[in-house]
Amino acid sequence: MDVPLISHSEQVVFPEFAAQDIRDIEIRSAKACDVHGMSALINHYAASNVMLARGPQYLFQHLQDYLVATARVRRADELKEYVVGCAALNVLWADLAEVRSLAVHPSCQHSGLGARIVRQLIERCAALEIPRVFCFTLVDKFFASCGFVPFSRELLPAIVWAECSKCPKFYHCDEISMVYEVLKK
Ligand SMILES: CC(C)(COP(=O)(O)OP(=O)(O)OC[C@H]1O[C@@H](n2cnc3c(N)ncnc32)[C@H](O)[C@@H]1OP(=O)(O)O)[C@@H](O)C(=O)NCCC(=O)NCCS
Repeated sequence: MDVPLISHSEQVVFPEFAAQDIRDIEIRSAKACDVHGMSALINHYAASNVMLARGPQYLFQHLQDYLVATARVRRADELKEYVVGCAALNVLWADLAEVRSLAVHPSCQHSGLGARIVRQLIERCAALEIPRVFCFTLVDKFFASCGFVPFSRELLPAIVWAECSKCPKFYHCDEISMVYEVLKK
């Protein structure tokens, strides 16, 4: 089996690299071998409280929801593939899906990668004929640039709160709820 199993003591280290060393970014469905890279990226941001932490069990069990952006990165004279972006489309009901775990490596930001990932999730949503996708976010300007609009969280169905109730911010949530109408009439 080629996918490395990780021991409890092993650290998934966040990779530091410079923008000029990054080549050939591509977006594709996530695979099992991406999970440790996704975890490193998500938990890098979760450590500063801008997104929810995700452990490997969650990521393996929801693997089919995820897209990853990968890149070849020059490090110590060799090119190695890294996960430099990810996000998930979590289907909640017949008419509603959620964008979760959106993250782009700091060295790949502000080049349109986040917007490309979100666009592909919206295309997934359209292919599934799900009319609405929402997110809870602190980066409302980014999501507004992707076509999302603010939306009262009270209008979201109870099923949304099942996931929310697992969040440490549940009682003092500072995130903005935003929605995108996928199947505009
Ligand atoms: C939010 C994030 C995914 C954006 O990724 P990105 O690849 O830099 O985004 P894009 O280059 O596609 O940005 C498109 C536009 O969105 C806006 N934007 C992007 N990041 C933003 C931010 N952090 N705050 C406010 N606006 C932002 C800008 O208008 C940007 O255009 P510009 O670069 O010409 O100014 C990235 O900053 C990130 O990973 N942040 C940390 C994790 C996080 O907050 N995730 C969201 C959880 S809901």
